[in-house]
Amino acid sequence: MSDHPCPQVRVSVAQTGDCFDCATNESLLAGMLRLGRKGIPAGCVNGGCGVCKVRIVEGSVQPLGPVSRAHVSAEEEACGYTLACRVTPTQAVRLEVSPKLRKPFWGGATPVAAPPVN
Ligand code: FES
Repeated sequence: MSDHPCPQVRVSVAQTGDCFDCATNESLLAGMLRLGRKGIPAGCVNGGCGVCKVRIVEGSVQPLGPVSRAHVSAEEEACGYTLACRVTPTQAVRLEVSPKLRKPFWGGATPVAAPPVN
């Protein structure tokens, strides 16, 4: 008996060759994490940090919720970019992890000293 009665489809990560089966009612990222697999960077898992940004190379996905324009512009979305934690596969998917990885929470934050007020 399966934990996921929903159909599962194969998801593959182009750069690493990682593959896993993802239910069609869970996000690409949740499916990967459920199996303890790697390949897609994981962060907040709710659309807030953008580290799971991927480009869908083959196959198709549908949104589970809004994808923040702070992380995926309309132009990028038109080119297949999305957030792996915000979409579920509707058929087998091959994806590429976005090369623009950043650490918006903790890395890269540079304190800025305010100029003295006279
Ligand atoms: S893990 Fe943070 S936006 Fe997907």
